[in-house]
Amino acid sequence: MRDAILVTGGSGFIGSNFILNWIECVGSPVVNLDLLTYAGNPANLSSLQGDPRYRFIRGDICDSELAGSLLREHQPCAIVHFAAESHVDRSIASPGAFLRTNVEGTCVLLEQARRYWSSLSLADQHAFRFLHISTDEVYGSLGPSDPPFIESAPYAPNSPYAASKAAADHFARAYFRTCGLPVLTTNCSNNYGPFQFPEKLIPLMILNALEGKPLPVYGDGLQVRDWLYVDDHCAAIRAVLQDGRAGETYHIGGSSERTNIHVVKAICDLVDEMVPPVSTGPRRNLIATVKDRPGHDRRYAMDTSKIRRELGWQPSIVFETGLRKTVRWYLDHPEWTEGVRTGAYLEWIQQNYTRRPER
Ligand code: NAD
Ligand code: DAU
Repeated sequence: MRDAILVTGGSGFIGSNFILNWIECVGSPVVNLDLLTYAGNPANLSSLQGDPRYRFIRGDICDSELAGSLLREHQPCAIVHFAAESHVDRSIASPGAFLRTNVEGTCVLLEQARRYWSSLSLADQHAFRFLHISTDEVYGSLGPSDPPFIESAPYAPNSPYAASKAAADHFARAYFRTCGLPVLTTNCSNNYGPFQFPEKLIPLMILNALEGKPLPVYGDGLQVRDWLYVDDHCAAIRAVLQDGRAGETYHIGGSSERTNIHVVKAICDLVDEMVPPVSTGPRRNLIATVKDRPGHDRRYAMDTSKIRRELGWQPSIVFETGLRKTVRWYLDHPEWTEGVRTGAYLEWIQQNYTRRPER
């Protein structure tokens, strides 16, 4: 076994931030297996071009032969599994891809990992890690004064996306319990930061605000999400890889609960400050409430005391600072934004928002 790690979905939002963070903080080799769906973007990792520590393989996690041969060739000491279909609204429009990638793809990887792991020496088996990256959405929705989700909370997924991630979590757990594969699972709250595809709330609102387009807030806008700056998520994953106990689940979150309307107004104010509106008036005027997301979860919040206590991790960037950095990043990278807003992106925006007349 070597000191390389295999990352799946490393060309997406969190995966690419993680690879950059890993190369900077740890520096051991990374093999990135990514299918480059609409959400994958090699430009996120262009700074690693020519770096001997980084290797990209375009491929599908559902391809068991490919996954098996990559493991045998690169002999990684860990797999960090990000690859997924990740957008709730898309899962409502067409759930099939979520079943395939999130459930079947995870099962394929687990089985190939088990075979590879079985071939290792006992010492290497002990050191090996399969880190399955999951979400707070598997637990369903909280009421306004419910305590945050703890690691033993019952699963109650409400969207097809959440259901597919929940199924994957159960398979990950089963491979530990039944086969002894050293699987760890992290369930994280909403991430934000550079390289996030602008179908998600924060980048969508930044770009629409800049361009003077309507800011489509679903329903009453009082749904609550717990926001975590993506670099803090990357640091948590490194901590779990290094010191987490096999078979355990760790919650990761920002302890930064905000309503959607609060987030959108904060974005409007930051964009107004950085690019003062000339004739259009304050960007808050662009806020338009639209038809709600079906099955929309009202509130998520994570109890992160386990990872704080056992691994000494805690978020380091407060929401207001992280949001300011994020708005700045999108303003400073118009070429990245233009590169991802291709025909397929525009089609999705058309499909999702024309079905949502104003409330
Ligand atoms: P993303 O949609 O930005 O990226 C997903 C990546 O996976 C893309 O690069 C895509 O090309 C790749 N991919 C998709 N299908 C694939 C396949 N069949 N084979 C190989 N690669 C494939 O997602 P993200 O927001 O970076 O999320 C990464 C992971 O973190 C997901 O598992 C998601 O469930 C989880 N997560 C995300 C958040 C969040 O706020 N974004 C929070 C908690 C957990
Ligand atoms: O909680 C973790 C999850 O966070 C991850 O597992 C998912 O992969 C990730 O996409 C994210 O899911 P959300 O559904 O919370 O994120 P999204 O950015 O799509 O929406 C955030 C909130 O904003 C949600 O309450 C819906 C609302 N929203 C979203 C969009 C795109 C709007 O009001 N208007 C919009 O146009």
